[in-house]
Amino acid sequence: MQTDPIDQYVAADSRYSGGMEYRRCGRSGIMLPAVSLGFWHNFGEDKSFESSRAVTHFAFDHGITHFDLANNYGPPYGAAEITMGKLMDRDFRPYRDELFISTKAGYDMWPGPYGDHGSRKYLLSSLDQSLKRMHLEYVDLFYSHRYDPDTPLEETLQALVDMVRAGKALYVGISRWPEEATVTAMKYLSDRDVPLLIYQGRLNIFDRHPEKSGILGTVRRGGAGFIGFSPLAQGLLTGRYLHGIPADSRMAREKFLKSSFLTEELLGQIRGLDVLARERGQSLAQTALSWLLSREGVTSVIVGASSTGQLEDNLKCLANTSFTTEELERIDAIAGRHPLPAQLITP
Ligand SMILES: NC(=O)c1ccc[n+]([C@@H]2O[C@H](COP(=O)([O-])OP(=O)(O)OC[C@H]3O[C@@H](n4cnc5c(N)ncnc54)[C@H](OP(=O)(O)O)[C@@H]3O)[C@@H](O)[C@H]2O)c1
Repeated sequence: MQTDPIDQYVAADSRYSGGMEYRRCGRSGIMLPAVSLGFWHNFGEDKSFESSRAVTHFAFDHGITHFDLANNYGPPYGAAEITMGKLMDRDFRPYRDELFISTKAGYDMWPGPYGDHGSRKYLLSSLDQSLKRMHLEYVDLFYSHRYDPDTPLEETLQALVDMVRAGKALYVGISRWPEEATVTAMKYLSDRDVPLLIYQGRLNIFDRHPEKSGILGTVRRGGAGFIGFSPLAQGLLTGRYLHGIPADSRMAREKFLKSSFLTEELLGQIRGLDVLARERGQSLAQTALSWLLSREGVTSVIVGASSTGQLEDNLKCLANTSFTTEELERIDAIAGRHPLPAQLITP
């Protein structure tokens, strides 16, 4: 790709001295930034390349070395990986060895019986497609994006092992797998010398499923890391909706976050948490992320950001990740007052 030399990206010299914390991922050799960047939203065709590009530059310049993708992030499906490929060509190729890039397959991606779920055929061909879109020779981490009860676990897991053997993925992970299947996965993978690096699950102040189900403890004891997705409950755990629904917000798009979710009860909870955050000298987003990073067994949190300003706000969470018992009890009491709509809670 032709680039204007004036517009050539050079990463900040201060990227590893600006306060980012790196945490060991389970019992592996990998250190992940406490805050990672997710590409589910804000990297598809609905966003300008320049705005996506600015967010990644800001991220990397501030020590975010981990970008989390999936085959179907967009819109349309595949578009976020295509953006990543353009970013590699244009900006990040000289920094490839400083980046930890993940992708996944498990949800619907292409039509017909082989573009969904957990078969060997789907996972291996999807990874090949992802590598082509991202202009990469290998990904650092490949995830089974979800548990598929109809495919033998051994088939899915052996596909993960074989990706590593083929040099197309350095590490493997699983996302949203139930606890029992997670235990099976850890044993199967470690017996083949491809230990599970990490489990990706939704964990935030409102959704405690990985803690309540025991998954967090299971993966920690088994030597894997845990990375929390949607740590801000898609923006609910920020100041975004305190004064209405902004036209450029995720909720205004009415797809993954619906305005019907924003009841007076939920707004009351968000306001209560916002007061507590301000008492701590933080924004609500910072408190939500600090809370998550203070949970035992959490390696990293994957935030989404539609602007560099949001990411700047979020990164300040690292300044204070400790909570008093009284603060934790208040957070629990507010979060427990009304359950979130079922779509926003892990079953
Ligand atoms: N494994 C899985 O199944 C799975 C599922 C979901 C997500 N994920 C991963 O987790 C990543 C993060 O998920 P998510 O996007 O739902 O995360 P999130 O961090 O909970 O929400 C991100 C959204 O919150 C708003 N926001 C962020 N920072 C803000 C701030 N400081 N002030 C105000 N608003 C702010 C923005 O929404 P606006 O657009 O409204 O500005 C942003 O797009 C994904 O990109 C993906 O990598 C994985």
